[in-house]
Amino acid sequence: MAIGISRPQSRTSTPEDDVARRLLESSAQLSYDPLTEVDWETPLDENFHGASPEWSTLYGTAYWNELTDAQRKALTRQEAASVASTGIWFEMILQQMVLRDIYAKDPTDDTFQWALTEIADECRHSIMFARGAKKLGAPAYRPHRVAVELGRLFKTTAFGEAAYAAILVAEEVLDVMQRDWMRDERVVPFVRTINNIHVVEESRHMKFARDETRKHLARAGRVRRQIHSLLIAVAAYVIVTSMVNKKVYANAGLDEERAVREAKANEHHKSMMRSSCSGLMDFLASVGLLTRPALFFYKRAHLI
Ligand SMILES: [Fe+2]
Ligand SMILES: [Fe+2]
Repeated sequence: MAIGISRPQSRTSTPEDDVARRLLESSAQLSYDPLTEVDWETPLDENFHGASPEWSTLYGTAYWNELTDAQRKALTRQEAASVASTGIWFEMILQQMVLRDIYAKDPTDDTFQWALTEIADECRHSIMFARGAKKLGAPAYRPHRVAVELGRLFKTTAFGEAAYAAILVAEEVLDVMQRDWMRDERVVPFVRTINNIHVVEESRHMKFARDETRKHLARAGRVRRQIHSLLIAVAAYVIVTSMVNKKVYANAGLDEERAVREAKANEHHKSMMRSSCSGLMDFLASVGLLTRPALFFYKRAHLI
């Protein structure tokens, strides 16, 4: 569907507007309606994984080696559902932060209209993740109470680069996993479609988040940059540690205590996270957000 993005002749366009206009054009060319694109009808085939097994929090542990193929598949299905549920949690946070950011701004701006487009994308994504998690046979996975309350505070107060860099971290961490899952024939087809839709639409969001982060940082002083770099790192830590809910193990029929213990010590999983987040860390370093206090949290979250 071709939608012309018209602009009043009198306004001079800013670099941010150029980015937003290109994103709007891209969105008009390629966006999805998950309600019709995803196969919701075919019953779940338990011969498939929910995620690439290499991304399982137990892959490479002694416990993983003891599991049957069916148990491994049940586990990755619960893990994929947990990641989707955590995705809903931070999509709700970011929708509110973006909405607060554009409150009472100029609606004729492409940036304003792009921001609303992104919120609309996220709204569809959250419905898609909710349906996907349900179809995977998972209960409601919600983050730890402390994470929920920290998220409540953050979404109500974060602004500028703190909001956009935290959005970027969440989107990048999801993106690297979903790129693998969407191509993986061991993953159940409807989950691959969900991941494909998300990867395509999020690539635009990440472009916007990087752009907004740079734009806001250009106006930020030293103290604000120091405080925000730490806040973003703490947000990243909370996001990453909330990805896979502890209850996935019991729901997949495993011994929760042993699984949690081995997952915590799983060097394979930590190195998957580190290598897939190298691009994100390069970006944060390039804009001066990898301060020493921030690095402490990125290391604890195994992102660097
Ligand atoms: Fe999304
Ligand atoms: Fe997004």
